[in-house]
Amino acid sequence: MLKLSKLATAVALVVAGSAAMAGEVEVLHWWTSGGEAKSVAELKTIMQSKGHTWKDFAVAGGGGDNAMTVLKSRVVSGNPPAAAQIKGPALQEWAAEGVLANLDATAKAEKWDELLPKVVADVMKYKGNYIAVPVNVHRVNWMWANKAVLDKVGVKSAPKTWPEFFEAADKVKKAGLIAVAHGGQNWQDFTTFESVVLGVGGAKFYEDALVKLDQKALTSATMTKSLETFRKIKGYTDAASPGRDWNLATAMVIKGDAAFQFMGDWAKGEFAAAGKTPGKDYICAAAPGTGNAYTFNVDSFAMFKLKDPNAQKAQADLAAAIMGTQFQEVFNLNKGSIPVRLKMDMSKFDDCAKLSAKDFVETAKTGGLVPSVAHGMAVKPAAEGAIKDAVSQFWNDDKISVADGVKNIAKAAATK
Ligand code: BGC
Repeated sequence: MLKLSKLATAVALVVAGSAAMAGEVEVLHWWTSGGEAKSVAELKTIMQSKGHTWKDFAVAGGGGDNAMTVLKSRVVSGNPPAAAQIKGPALQEWAAEGVLANLDATAKAEKWDELLPKVVADVMKYKGNYIAVPVNVHRVNWMWANKAVLDKVGVKSAPKTWPEFFEAADKVKKAGLIAVAHGGQNWQDFTTFESVVLGVGGAKFYEDALVKLDQKALTSATMTKSLETFRKIKGYTDAASPGRDWNLATAMVIKGDAAFQFMGDWAKGEFAAAGKTPGKDYICAAAPGTGNAYTFNVDSFAMFKLKDPNAQKAQADLAAAIMGTQFQEVFNLNKGSIPVRLKMDMSKFDDCAKLSAKDFVETAKTGGLVPSVAHGMAVKPAAEGAIKDAVSQFWNDDKISVADGVKNIAKAAATK
């Protein structure tokens, strides 16, 4: 009897001990498509295995605009989530508000400085302190194609230049299929637009026009050519594209209703979730003219300052888990991206991911590695929003001349 009661006390102590360590993490993200949901479920499982409670705060809407609106209202009302998917220069703006937690203790213990490319680590820091943890590296300048459709219409390989692309697209159109699966939302319009600018003008021009927002580049003949090419692509999309979600556009390529989609490699997460194999069922290729360049998009989580020590412990565990090898592998296998952590074993990854990893390293040496503007990596949110609106207006309204389109985008770029 005595022994049993001693055991009960011991069990109670252990339970109390672990309960004291466990906390709840409410995590804001916009990963709601099939492939995205599978990926984020892996993080939830890891957190639950550490005894924490995962409170999912998913706000649907590709590219994250809706999620950012909801986040602002939660923070303004004094009720921030424990963690939120925030990226690029927006991290600096949030940190400057004084609402983000300092992650240096975890970063030091887990040796993040040694495990991250410096360009990435710098974005995760505010005044030298870590305020966010990176998840992955997505490549944005991809073109996805349905292999059977290309075979059927006699396109032998993925087009490498824009003229080759339009030739291939004409063949698809003639066969009565949709050449380009597009979702008409402004971040998707811009995802296509930035690949066109990169393909037409090259990495240096992309950097001058879209990252430095240099007026001379923005009003140049190369920009005119980019807008002409961009408008031409619209002629290959279907009438139902306005408002369509990106994953539904990917589904059109998966099913063989459409031949191509311009989209970052989260699209590969959809192909993978549908059981499709790269090279056999679908092709991943750099968007025309962009084989020597790489638009990067790094997802990251920032943690908000919370008072409860259990919640702080859960935040630290979340940050450590995200940079851990287990998560970096399983998450990125599902998400279509590559690990952001250096020296990871890539043997389980497919050829698209291996190409992405190789090109990430190579383009970093040649100057071809550029930040994605469409995905919040390059420009402060106000100017980014203004340029995106100008580009979408041009895309949606055929009455806007190319010359006016160029002027409108250059003017939007001057937004402070
Ligand atoms: C994010 C991806 C996400 C995609 C579609 C991008 O901005 O970086 O993680 O899958 O939007 O929602």
